[in-house]
Amino acid sequence: MAILLTGGAGFIGSHTAVELLCAGYEVVIADDLSNSDASVIDRIETITGRRPAFYRINVADRAALETVFSAEAIDAVIHFAGFKAVGESVEKPLAYYRNNLDSALTVLEAMQAHGCARFIFSSSATVYGLTEQIPYTEQTERRGCTNPYGWTKYMIEQILQDAAAADGDLAVVLLRYFNPVGAHPSGLLGEKPSGVPNNLMPYVTQVACGIRTHLSVFGNDYPTPDGTGVRDYIHVQDLAQGHVAAYRYILEHKGCEAFNLGTGKGYSVLELVHTFERVNGMKIPYQIAPRRAGDIAMYYAAPDKAAAELGWRACKTLEDMCRDAWRWQCRLQADEET
Ligand code: UFG
Repeated sequence: MAILLTGGAGFIGSHTAVELLCAGYEVVIADDLSNSDASVIDRIETITGRRPAFYRINVADRAALETVFSAEAIDAVIHFAGFKAVGESVEKPLAYYRNNLDSALTVLEAMQAHGCARFIFSSSATVYGLTEQIPYTEQTERRGCTNPYGWTKYMIEQILQDAAAADGDLAVVLLRYFNPVGAHPSGLLGEKPSGVPNNLMPYVTQVACGIRTHLSVFGNDYPTPDGTGVRDYIHVQDLAQGHVAAYRYILEHKGCEAFNLGTGKGYSVLELVHTFERVNGMKIPYQIAPRRAGDIAMYYAAPDKAAAELGWRACKTLEDMCRDAWRWQCRLQADEET
C-alpha cells in the first residue's frame, strides 16, 4: 500500500516524501510541476535511495487522477496541492477558490470511489484569523480569515469535518502549519520562490547572496519585545516528520482531528535576522519599513496536542533553520551558474 502525496514535488511535500520513504513507506507523488520541477524526484531518490512513483497531473483533473488510483494501491492521501501566495489570493480570489476547493473535492471523490478513507490535509495557522488568544490551541476560537488563501484552508477544513461526520469510516487529520522555513540538511531540497519572495526567510537568503540589496522589516512599532512581528518558525524537516506521525495516528483513528504543527516558540523578525547573521557569519542589510497590510503582531502555536496524541515535537532550532536555508540558497546559486 502506498501514500499519495498531491503536490509532493513542492517544498513541504518533497520533504515529507523523504521522511516517509526513510521510514519505510511507499510513496506516490502527483504534481503538475506548476511550482516545482521534475529534478525534485531525482533528488528525493538521491537522498533516500528509493524513487517514488511520479505522475505529472493536475489533481483537479478527475480523469487524470483516476489513472493514479487505478494503477496504485493508495492507502492514504496527504493533500499538499494548492495555490499558496497570500497576496496573489487577494488579487485573484476566484482562481484561488476554484483551484484549491476543486482539487480537494476531486481528490476526496476519487478516494471515495476507490474505497480510500485516510486523508491528511495541509492546513495553516492562518485559519485562526484575527484571534487575540496566544498561543493558539486547536480549541482557540477561529475568527474568520484575512485573505482568500486563508479562507480556502478554512473552507476545506469545514468540508472535511462534514465528510468525516457523514462517513464513519473516514479518518481525517488537519495539520495547521505555522511558519515553515529551512531546507533539507543535504542541500538538495528547499523552497524555490518564483519572483520576489513574499516570505521572510527566502527574502533574507536572497539578500545574503546579493540578489536583493536589503530586507524591508515591515513595522517596528508592534507590541512585541523589539517592536517587530513575532512568528513560530518551524524547520521543514520537523514539519515533514509531523506528517509521518500523523499517518501513524490515522491508521488507528477515525473521525476528524486538527493538530498544530509549530514549535511553541515565537521569534521576532530581528531575532531571525540576527541569528542568520551569527550562524552564517555575514551581515544582512535591512531598513525599517511601514507595516504590511494584513499582518498580525504576534502568534505562535501551543504544540501540546501534537506531542500528546501524535508523539511528535519539533526539535530543530532557529540556528538550524538559518544554516540550512543558507546552504540551500548557495546550492540554488551554484545550479544557476552551471
Ligand atoms: N516580514 C518582513 N519583511 C519581509 C517579509 C516578511 O519584515 O520581506 C515579516 C512579516 O511582517 C512578519 C514575518 O516577517 O512579521 C513573517 O512573514 P512571512 O511573510 O514570512 O509569514 P506570515 O506569517 O505572514 O505568513 C505565513 C505564510 C502564510 C500562512 C501564515 C500562517 O506565508 O501562507 O504564515 O501562519 F498563512
